[in-house]
Amino acid sequence: MSAASPATDLFARHYVDLQLSGAVGRVAGGLSAAGLVTVDRLTTRSRVLGFAAQVMRVVHHRDSGADGVTAIYNTGRHDERPGFAGLTNGELALHTEGAALQSPPRLMLMVCTQPAPEGGHSLLVDGRTIHAELEQRCPDAMAVLSGPRAGFFGPSAGIFAPVFARHEDGRVAVRYRQNGLVRWSPLAQMHLHSFWTAAKRNQQMLTLEAGQGYLLDNHRWLHGRTAFDGARRCYRALGNPHEPAPSRFPPQKHGRGCGMSVVTAPRASAPQASQTVPALRKRPRLRAKHLQAMGVPRQREAVSEARRTVRRLLLRWGVGPQEAFEAELFAAELLTNAYHHSRAGTPGAEIGLCIAEGGGAVLIEVEDAGGEGRPTARGQTDEDAEHGRGLDLVESLGRWGWRTLPDGHLSTWAYVHPALQRPTR
Ligand SMILES: [Fe+2]
Repeated sequence: MSAASPATDLFARHYVDLQLSGAVGRVAGGLSAAGLVTVDRLTTRSRVLGFAAQVMRVVHHRDSGADGVTAIYNTGRHDERPGFAGLTNGELALHTEGAALQSPPRLMLMVCTQPAPEGGHSLLVDGRTIHAELEQRCPDAMAVLSGPRAGFFGPSAGIFAPVFARHEDGRVAVRYRQNGLVRWSPLAQMHLHSFWTAAKRNQQMLTLEAGQGYLLDNHRWLHGRTAFDGARRCYRALGNPHEPAPSRFPPQKHGRGCGMSVVTAPRASAPQASQTVPALRKRPRLRAKHLQAMGVPRQREAVSEARRTVRRLLLRWGVGPQEAFEAELFAAELLTNAYHHSRAGTPGAEIGLCIAEGGGAVLIEVEDAGGEGRPTARGQTDEDAEHGRGLDLVESLGRWGWRTLPDGHLSTWAYVHPALQRPTR
């Protein structure tokens, strides 16, 4: 047996020798403990099927043969077809197998019988690691991605589902795929960058030799593959364990926040400023009676519509007309600022807008993908606010501040309170 990647001994750490007695029990134990087992000496399709049948009830797949095993190779017929990247020689992004199914298969066995001369390395990441990192660094992203309608996993007969689903036993399952068959809610779209960053940071590469493979808990691990040249052949089997066994993963608890408030109203209080990221000014505390978050398309014309939405919301919440007017101005300025100065971010990404109200005070927060420089009010009276990062007006009417989030995003906030003294202009 040889180790897998130069960077890790992932293969060795999870290896079970199938020739030893009790191997099937050790496989079950490895799956329960870590959700991943590596194996070898499965050099033919029939050996792959034989091992699969020992550990799972094999389920058929759209592309599988009559025996339930799918040959994974570059067919030359599936380029550019969403959902068929596995049958090309291109990169296969990290994903859950069967993400569009109500219940994706619990287990996936992938065995390589013919490694590619160049590339074709397996990519694996433990969903528990992503979950822990997001919960520690960005619980707002966690809250959004755990929402029941975070994503629509297509094609057309797909389902709405969260990325992280907590089950009755307290364990968490991950479901993720990023291709043309998935549609994300605007809020989830806003936070995918954080998820993807955590996934890429923690992914491990596995170079399988002929006969080597991995068996993973498909509700816990994401898998993918690098692009390759030349001939490469793998066999895949999907199924569910013969005996009920602990699956998914137990979550880890942490307590720091990083992002804007994105949990929908009502909630008891708005989140506090991060204790780990220095802010130019400290964001005021606000016990939010109402809170609404939304994604705003990164388009100039979307700012006006967002401004009208803010005004409608605040008046409905009973905010005074003067405070509502100032808050809508703030929102427009911060959004315009984000539109002009932030990086484009993930294709299709939106700018996050959060509006919170409590006791007549209003907190507006805008999150963008960050960019060069930092927001600065220049103290100008120039009406061309774009050239002062649009903040002079905000500066003159109330309080504002910003902070850089751990994922590089920029959060700017502005605050309106009836009791605040307005500077004379
Ligand atoms: Fe897959």
